[in-house]
Amino acid sequence: MKARNVFITGASSGIGKATAYKFAEYGDNLILCARRKENLNEIAQDIKNKWRSHVHIYELDVTNYEDVSSVVKDLEDKDIKIDILVNNAGLASGLDKFQDSSIEDIEKMINTNLKGLIYVTRKVIEQMAGENSGHIINMGSTAGIYAYEKAAVYCASKAAVKTLSDGIRIDIIDKDIKITTIQPGIVQTDFSEVRFHGDSERAEGVYKGIEALQPEDIADVVLYVANQPKRVQITDVTIMANQQGTGFNIYRK
Ligand SMILES: NC(=O)c1ccc[n+]([C@@H]2O[C@H](COP(=O)([O-])OP(=O)(O)OC[C@H]3O[C@@H](n4cnc5c(N)ncnc54)[C@H](OP(=O)(O)O)[C@@H]3O)[C@@H](O)[C@H]2O)c1
Repeated sequence: MKARNVFITGASSGIGKATAYKFAEYGDNLILCARRKENLNEIAQDIKNKWRSHVHIYELDVTNYEDVSSVVKDLEDKDIKIDILVNNAGLASGLDKFQDSSIEDIEKMINTNLKGLIYVTRKVIEQMAGENSGHIINMGSTAGIYAYEKAAVYCASKAAVKTLSDGIRIDIIDKDIKITTIQPGIVQTDFSEVRFHGDSERAEGVYKGIEALQPEDIADVVLYVANQPKRVQITDVTIMANQQGTGFNIYRK
């Protein structure tokens, strides 16, 4: 089977990084983006040592439309067609009641989780539509299904990812392009450390007493979704930890 070109945003850690390794192991080529280029360099080198994947890396802040456009243009200039886009870059910033939350945190979440995802998708889908093929896999969250306290804006941004995916699927119905929303529950990554602005002790507490999902568990599902026959479009997948009932309803031992 021909190697596909898989474009992953937020590939410098967590779920995005694990997804890069899964596709590389499967035999696909990678385009990895994030702000932390040194992490991407290390990941690319390690992957190239292990498998035969071609790996391109781009330092990219998805909230900057000009930069998103120039990365996509650079790929076009190199005649690299994106077969699969994994819109994974995202974050929660702060855990506060809405009335106490800072505008900086609110804007960071909306700009990254929603506007950034829209910027990347809007650029990449032009090329996919021209080719009449492609698969866009968007990282939502159980937070987009079940709102939880002190996370109104994060939950809203992830609900928007799901609704946006559904809307795009309708608009692109006449093309052979698939749209999938992945909705993970609690996954042990740097997510909580980012949310708590670097407070690692507080972040560790999030994963105490529960066997959280690992980034590889989500990467497995992303690869599964991407490996279906042409006729099969998996629209949504929700994956929770065993002791998780809703996004924030967790049984701790
Ligand atoms: N962990 C969970 O429990 C969980 C649950 C449901 C959904 N999710 C979602 O899964 C996705 C990945 O999160 P994770 O858990 O793997 O956390 P993570 O380890 O903190 O990874 C987040 C990734 O997003 C990238 N990123 C953040 N802002 C960016 C920006 N402006 N431009 C480009 N890249 C940016 C980060 O890279 P740089 O910092 O290098 O830019 C990093 O690679 C997110 O969308 C998150 O909302 C996570």
